[in-house]
Amino acid sequence: MKMLRTLALMLGCVGAGAAWGQTAVPSMLVTVYKSPTCGCCGKWVEHLRENGFEVEAVDVNGMTSKKQSLGVPRSMHSCHTAQVGGYVIEGHVPAADISRLLQQRPPIAGLAVPGMPIGSPGMEGPNPQAYDVIAFDAQGGADVFSRQRP
Ligand code: CU
Ligand code: CU
Repeated sequence: MKMLRTLALMLGCVGAGAAWGQTAVPSMLVTVYKSPTCGCCGKWVEHLRENGFEVEAVDVNGMTSKKQSLGVPRSMHSCHTAQVGGYVIEGHVPAADISRLLQQRPPIAGLAVPGMPIGSPGMEGPNPQAYDVIAFDAQGGADVFSRQRP
C-alpha cells in the first residue's frame, strides 16, 4: 500500500489524487497561455515537460487582458501566464519552484518571474543574470520565494 502511494507520487499521476483521497498528490497539469508567436514560451513549456509536468499550451492573442483576468499584478508581467493547482504562474518560473509551491501550498495567488531574465528556464543565454522568483498575493503583497543565482 505504502509503496503504491509512493509510486503514484513519483509519477505525478493526475488520477492518483482521486484514488488516494486528494491529500498529498497535487494536480500536475499546467495550463499555459501564451502568444502564438512566442518562442521562449515554447521553450518554457518544454522545461516543464522535461521536469514531469503535464502541459496544455493555449495560444492567446490578447495576453495583457488574459493576465488581468487571472489577477497578475502589472509589475509582475512577463510573456506567458499559466495556471496549476489553483495558482497562477507568470513568466519563466523554474519547475522546481512550482513543485515546491504545490507541495507547500502557501496562501498566495501565485509565483512570478517579472520580465524575462536571461538564464531563467526557456531564456537560456550566454550571460545568465541573477533573478528572484516572487510570490504574490491578491492584495498586492509580494515576497521572494526563491533566489536564482547563476
Ligand atoms: Cu519569455
Ligand atoms: Cu513565455
